[in-house]
Formats: sequence, structure tokens, C-alpha cells
Amino acid sequence: MNHIKHVAIIMDGNGRWGIKHKKSRNFGHKEGLKTVEKIIKSSIKNKIKYLTLFAFSTENWKRPKKEVNFLFSLLENFLLRKISSLNKQNIKLKIIGKKNFSKKMHKLLDISEKKTSKNNRLQINLALNYGSKSELVHSFNEINKDKKKINENDISKHLYTQNIPDPDLLIRTGNTQRLSNFLLWQLAYSEIFFEKKLWPDFNERDYKKILEKFKKIKRNYGNI
Ligand code: IPE
Ligand code: IPE
Ligand code: MG
Repeated sequence: MNHIKHVAIIMDGNGRWGIKHKKSRNFGHKEGLKTVEKIIKSSIKNKIKYLTLFAFSTENWKRPKKEVNFLFSLLENFLLRKISSLNKQNIKLKIIGKKNFSKKMHKLLDISEKKTSKNNRLQINLALNYGSKSELVHSFNEINKDKKKINENDISKHLYTQNIPDPDLLIRTGNTQRLSNFLLWQLAYSEIFFEKKLWPDFNERDYKKILEKFKKIKRNYGNI
């Protein structure tokens, strides 16, 4: 049985869910946040140590301003309402991505990270303004400062995910089979599960089913 330390999730399908229910895309985002809370709870129950959630990509800035603003206000309200409770549950929050947000958002993210930095039950890596290619460029530039020959360990050490083990599995909801610039380096040997359901419909049972399936997979890493 494989041990599960790190689960990464591309939470896709909120917009379509909102439209499908004859409401707005933003309504779908709001509903999707409920799934986030369920999956955090379930991750703790299943003793998972790292949960990486793709919340906003470097490409998502292309969306209408109204949607982008809504997503950030949703995050802001979530943190203001929930950070104390996350802290009490011994959850550590880490932001991965390029931190060029508004001053107010930057400050809130900083406070939230600092407040929870000593916690060790579950680490939530929130991928915000995250793009794997820009992360790799960032890593290479960091290494290049010492002008030395680069090895694999150097690259890993300078990614936003430094010190975080690679995901054991990736789940993408929303019936789309692509990586969308998410963790290209870190997913090199992860097991990938594409889930048909839209993110707001994804539930604890679906999650548990995937975790159980993962546990039984024979992981070869090139060996036999
Ligand atoms: C949520 O799903 C992912 C985010 C960027 C917040 P989408 O908003 O991409 O939903 P669909 O894929 O358009 O349905
Ligand atoms: C990936 O979903 C990004 C997040 C889940 C935050 P998208 O909906 O942005 O991906 P594409 O653009 O359809 O590939
Ligand atoms: Mg999408």
C-alpha cells in the first residue's frame, strides 16, 4: 500500500457549474469554496501532510476583471474568516506563486502565512498567481546568481516548493485532461487522476475513492 504524503489538486469547473445552475460563473466559484473546506477536512482525516491547491494561475489574469476581482475578494473573506480556525487546527498555510498582488492582499497573505508557520498537522500550499514555467525561470535565475553548473537538486531547491516533497498524486476535476502550467517539474512521477465532476460537485466520497485507488497502484519509478 502506498503511503500518501502529498496531494495536489487542480480545482477546475467552477465557472461551468455556475452556468449549469443558471447562475453566474462567480456563483460557481463561491460554491467551489465549500468543496475546498470539505477537502481540507478530509485531508486531515486521511492524515495527509501536504495539500496543494491550484487557486489562480499566471494565465488566469486574462479573465474579465469582474471575475478576477471576485476570486480575490472570495480569498480575502475566506482568510479573514477562517485563518484563526485553520491555525487552531494546527494547519500551516503557504502561498506558492509570484507574490505581486495588491498591497492589502499581500499583507493579508503574509500575516496568514506567519500566523500559521509553526503548524505541522497539514500544510496547505495555495498556488496563487502560480505558473510552473515562471517558477522554473525563477529557480534558474536564483541558481545563476552563483554562476555554477546546475543539477536536479539545485532546481528543486530553488522552486517555490522548496522543502516540500513532490506530490504523490494529482487530481484534476472538471473533465479536462491537461496540466495548465501546474507543477510541471514536481509532477514528474505523480499518479494523475482526471475526474469528470466539476469542482463544486466533487465530494469527500469521490476524494476517498481516489485515495484508495492510489494506495493500490504499483509505482515503478523506472524500475520493474
Ligand atoms: C476554477 O474553475 C479554477 C479557477 C481558475 C478559479 P474555472 O473557473 O476554470 O471553471 P471552468 O473551467 O471555467 O468551468
Ligand atoms: C487551471 O484551470 C487553473 C486553476 C484551477 C486555478 P483553468 O481553467 O485556468 O485551465 P485552462 O485555462 O482551462 O487550461
Ligand atoms: Mg477551467
